[in-house]
Amino acid sequence: MNVLVVYYSMYGHIQAMAKAAAEGVAQVPGATATIRRVPETLPEAVLAKMGALDAQKAQADVPICHVDELAQADAIIFGTPTRFGNMCGQMRQFLDGTGHLWLTGALVGKVGSVFASSATQHGGQESTILTFHVTLLHQGMVIVGLPYAFGQQMGLEEIKGCSPYGASTIAGGDGSRLPSETELAGARWQGKHVAEIAKKLVG
Ligand SMILES: Cc1cc2nc3c(=O)[nH]c(=O)nc-3n(C[C@H](O)[C@H](O)[C@H](O)COP(=O)(O)O)c2cc1C
Repeated sequence: MNVLVVYYSMYGHIQAMAKAAAEGVAQVPGATATIRRVPETLPEAVLAKMGALDAQKAQADVPICHVDELAQADAIIFGTPTRFGNMCGQMRQFLDGTGHLWLTGALVGKVGSVFASSATQHGGQESTILTFHVTLLHQGMVIVGLPYAFGQQMGLEEIKGCSPYGASTIAGGDGSRLPSETELAGARWQGKHVAEIAKKLVG
């Protein structure tokens, strides 16, 4: 059973969460995780101005996803940074290339799940995940989140991401905050949860 973890990450926060989600998938016997990133849409000069070139180079070894890989997967976990409370344009562009998958119902009945990141604590992690779910529902996917069975999302002892909708991390205004152990644990839990449910659906 193959769980595809497909993401976009400008500065590396979502990439770290993607690795954690893949680790969670791998905890399920018989499940393997494939990590892919969606194609970049911004010119290099713009990425340079945004201070993203080093983080992009660090991801060069992660293969670019082809939309048909979505159809081949048994379940798909999507990772995206927030852009104005929604998914990033790179992910939107990638998903807008899946019309033929919609037309043929290729993703109908597959598990779909989303994790996110934002600069600020209330900068739109939940809206990003929930609005992403709309696209997955149009594709006929079975939405899986991060239920409170992942108990570490409770409690006020630390600043942290994660909600019942999916794992998330807070990058900080200058991007200097790395995903915390709790947030990575949330991504791992979500990956395992997705794989367990997909395994039941695949049979
Ligand atoms: C154009 C743009 C819009 C953004 N919009 C938001 C926003 O609405 N709320 C927020 O908290 N952060 C926002 N951010 C910050 C990103 O979400 C943050 O850099 C990202 O989550 C870091 O993850 P990454 O390292 O994986 O790219 C925005 C960043 C850019 C470049």
